[in-house]
Amino acid sequence: MVQKGTATLDFGKGGQSIELPVISGTMGPDVVDIRTLHAKSGMFTYDPGYISTASSSSEITFIDGDEGILLYRGYPIEQLAAQCDFIDVCYLLMNGELPTSEQKTSFDNTIKNHSMLHEQLVKFYTGFRRDAHPMALMVGVVGALSAFYHEAMDITNAAHREQSAFRLIAKLPTIAAMAYKYNIGQPFIYPRNNLSYAENFLHMMFAVPTEEYKLNPVLVRALDRILILHADHEQNASTSTVRLAGSSGANPYACISAGIACLWGPAHGGANEACLNMLEEIGDVSRIDEYIQRAKNKDDPYRLMGFGHRVYKNFDPRAKLMRETCHEVLNELGLQNDRLFKLALQLEKIALEDEYFISRKLYPNVDFYSGIVQRALGIPTFMFTAIFAMARTVGWVAQWSEMISDPNHRIGRPRQLYTGITMRNIPSAALRK
Ligand SMILES: CC(C)(COP(=O)(O)OP(=O)(O)OC[C@H]1O[C@@H](n2cnc3c(N)ncnc32)[C@H](O)[C@@H]1OP(=O)(O)O)[C@@H](O)C(=O)NCCC(=O)NCCS
Repeated sequence: MVQKGTATLDFGKGGQSIELPVISGTMGPDVVDIRTLHAKSGMFTYDPGYISTASSSSEITFIDGDEGILLYRGYPIEQLAAQCDFIDVCYLLMNGELPTSEQKTSFDNTIKNHSMLHEQLVKFYTGFRRDAHPMALMVGVVGALSAFYHEAMDITNAAHREQSAFRLIAKLPTIAAMAYKYNIGQPFIYPRNNLSYAENFLHMMFAVPTEEYKLNPVLVRALDRILILHADHEQNASTSTVRLAGSSGANPYACISAGIACLWGPAHGGANEACLNMLEEIGDVSRIDEYIQRAKNKDDPYRLMGFGHRVYKNFDPRAKLMRETCHEVLNELGLQNDRLFKLALQLEKIALEDEYFISRKLYPNVDFYSGIVQRALGIPTFMFTAIFAMARTVGWVAQWSEMISDPNHRIGRPRQLYTGITMRNIPSAALRK
């Protein structure tokens, strides 16, 4: 980053004025560096929801929401989705460059060698209620990994950080698939090293010990694409949560567990689940209008799930790619006339033509289509966010590791604008009667 100039902050009549550095990155908006603001003026900035705040500098992912651009380490998401698989993308996010074929084989083998869970950890599952949401298990089991790897948890040691990253990327599919199997009461299916990352996950989800499970390459490609498109998304809520948790020196498993907890919310990773639930609730094409009217009504907090995005205000490049995959999968499985899919496509059409949605730049987001694709793959709605967590784990560990390896990183500690009662004394006991 380079200093480009300065910005003057003028506090008006009689007040002082302060010069603040303006810093440029390689792409995207410049930032006003306010690190010295409090020392110089005694004031804080106020930015709930971080609408105008860059919380960190990062070399991993770039987004231009107006232009619909998403780059991982400089490569456009469209090229990565067409020419790479998820393992390439994991390597890229972690190391900054795409792997050579030798590097890829070695990386892939390392991931495969870490995919099993400690048998003691497998016992954790039985402590959960059978009907527990898989995300509840994920938060617990991923956090519990920290109880198993004391020997490699020195976060100041780069080799330990890498080891933790391998373990997390490798074990998340196993943890997620076991959460599913536990929920439906089927035996756990262990990972297989002759399968790719996406194949292995589908196998652990859908195979049963009594039959051979046949993988469909169109569906494997669709899952691989879901993983690539969700692998990282710069400083979103869950990634910022991982960074904030990690800034205190917490271990990586605890940090990723915190990220999973944040991802669970319907305004973030829970959106594709919420979107499918919404489609079920609407139920029929004839009721779409009623729901659109509710979403537009200012007195009704209802929102159309799977529409809108904090950053993409034009189009979401991931949604475009997921829409393509969506049609590919529906054609492959002959599901074009399925009730819910017809309803989704009709909702998409109506919302895209409605003035309310057009003027607010509310387009279907990636979760809208990924929910439909996952349903077509036979993945139940309650597993959607767990799959998102599995895909995002590489982004979380790459961002966490970037932060820890920066010698200037400090504990994250936001300030506040206090609006509560000013200082007062507790009344005497007699007056409190
Ligand atoms: C993603 C989301 C949280 C972004 O929120 P945001 O950037 O803070 O946008 P705002 O809440 O400021 O919304 C801007 C306007 O669009 C409206 N709006 C946003 N999303 C909407 C939706 N899904 N349905 C109906 N109206 C919506 C807001 O009411 C607001 O209207 P107003 O200007 O008349 O007050 C929001 O669009 C949303 O809740 N979407 C549904 C959940 C979802 O799909 N999340 C997945 C994110 S990947």
